[in-house]
Amino acid sequence: MRTLASIFRIIAIVAIAWGGVELLFETEPGQLAVIQYPKTLLFIGVILLVSIAVEVSVAALRFTLLRSLSPEKQELFLASEQKFSKKLSNYFERLPNLLTRSKAIEEEDEIELDHNYDGIRELDNKLPPWWLYSFYASIIFAAFYLARFHIFDDYTQVEEFQSEVAQAEIDIARYKETAKDLVTIETVTLMEEPSDLEAGKQIYLNNCVACHKADGGGGIGPNLTDEHWILGGGVKNVYRTLIEGGRPGKGMVSWKNDFKPSELQQVASYVLTLQGTTPAEPKDPQGEIWQEEIIE
Ligand code: HEC
Repeated sequence: MRTLASIFRIIAIVAIAWGGVELLFETEPGQLAVIQYPKTLLFIGVILLVSIAVEVSVAALRFTLLRSLSPEKQELFLASEQKFSKKLSNYFERLPNLLTRSKAIEEEDEIELDHNYDGIRELDNKLPPWWLYSFYASIIFAAFYLARFHIFDDYTQVEEFQSEVAQAEIDIARYKETAKDLVTIETVTLMEEPSDLEAGKQIYLNNCVACHKADGGGGIGPNLTDEHWILGGGVKNVYRTLIEGGRPGKGMVSWKNDFKPSELQQVASYVLTLQGTTPAEPKDPQGEIWQEEIIE
């Protein structure tokens, strides 16, 4: 009995330590802190060892204490220990009844009402205290709620919704800042920041001029300044061309292994700034005139 209790105590303390670790360390969704940060296991391990040590020393202390007592005192000591554990177990035995306050079956006729519907009888049981007090608590809550939202007109549901949306937008913006490379063909947008366009220009000058010319006039590759596109214009199509490459055998390869998605987004945005400029030796238009779909 005694060892069983100490095992439960140790398990409880370790569980609390683990719960604390999970609360304190931020993890990726669905990931356990103890797995993402294996060092925390060390901490939990130390807690485990310490609690075992405490249990063992307390047991040893009790044993030596008992030994040092005279036989009569030993008996007294054991009796007081027993009294305590009996009190505890008594309490646990009474707990269900404290929670429900139901009558024992033998005493049920004391609370039977004299309704009798075709043999179905009714008992006038006391309301279970847990239920009754939650009900009182909900009444008190309702009073505060009524005062706060209906008398003093604190925020409305619409305001609550709007502030949550605003917060979510801040969170999303912050997330995107740290995760720029989440751009995909579906989500790519035209960048307008001068710094992004400058970065795109550098990549273009270092990698693309052999076939497209520095001014985009075209050579081996098509003219990038006119409104004719073989593979489609607009940021989505240009980005797709950079990710997937052109038609097989034409010379335009996929660049997705050379650059990060965000860098290709910069190049695609830079390429589109060449639209409408006049290159020195423009290559004849190829492909169709591209028109951005107008979304209403
Ligand atoms: C080896 C030569 C070569 C290089 C280097 C090259 N391209 Fe191309 N590019 C081509 C060819 C050829 C095509 C036409 C592909 C086709 O017809 O399918 C093309 C097509 C394109 C298109 C689509 C044009 C259209 O009309 O639809 C874009 C945009 C483009 N390239 C951008 C770039 C960028 C940006 C780089 C540098 C990162 C680059 N290219 C590097 C040869 C090249």
